[in-house]
Amino acid sequence: RGLLRPDGLWTSVDVVASTGSTNSDLVASGGAEGAVLVAEEQTAGRGRLDRTWSAPPRSGLFFSFLLTPGPDVPAERWGWLPLLAGVATATALARAAGVDMALKWPNDLLIEVEGAERKAGGILAERTGDSVVVGIGLNVSLRADELPVPTAGSLALAGAKVLDRDPLLRAVLRSVEEWYGEWRRAGGDPGACRLQQAYAAGCATLGRTVRAELPGGRELVGEAVAVDGDGRLVLATEDGVQEPVGAGDIVHLRP
Ligand code: BTN
Repeated sequence: RGLLRPDGLWTSVDVVASTGSTNSDLVASGGAEGAVLVAEEQTAGRGRLDRTWSAPPRSGLFFSFLLTPGPDVPAERWGWLPLLAGVATATALARAAGVDMALKWPNDLLIEVEGAERKAGGILAERTGDSVVVGIGLNVSLRADELPVPTAGSLALAGAKVLDRDPLLRAVLRSVEEWYGEWRRAGGDPGACRLQQAYAAGCATLGRTVRAELPGGRELVGEAVAVDGDGRLVLATEDGVQEPVGAGDIVHLRP
């Protein structure tokens, strides 16, 4: 516990043995900026688009934190927070564990196992009033026979040098604090700090053809060419138009 003292942005760091979902807990808490909640086990972990996030107890890092970006950052820029968390996680894991991680827009954390892209983690950001709760789930120690689905991966399978929770958590929190500070000082403009460029550099989606399922059953196929200032994925379609896709839309990568 002593390793996870409150520090800088992080005003409280609580570790619980088990809970439903750290995101739900922080959303319900109405806590202050900088609250961090870590669970050794989640019994009702949630992912984006009403999906579930399930992982065996103590097999990974499951935590959420609460941020209150206003009034420095206009609300339409908050869509960058989950992307920022992805960049911060990838930066931290490269530095602390020697893992090379790619980002699948908007917020899947990918690693490579035997030449194939696997999902080793995900990010769920939820707005609550003036705050955003950002949750990160990372598969850390899972062996090949323990993976919940064949497309999943883990840090262990990616050859991570560090598999202990506390050093990994500290590295990610420190990195989030750095990126968040930079983004906030830039008024939330990802192009005015290093964020937009760092996301693009780590993003496995850009340059690929994707199929997006939009509300009302509309489908859009195009090449992912950019992530815009509000965090939307910009597709260049066959008709020669550029259309932004929001994080609420389902996006499939075409091989
Ligand atoms: C996704 O892949 O769609 C996002 C998964 C996010 C999982 C994390 S684990 C900690 C936090 N609490 C939750 O219930 N979800 C997030």
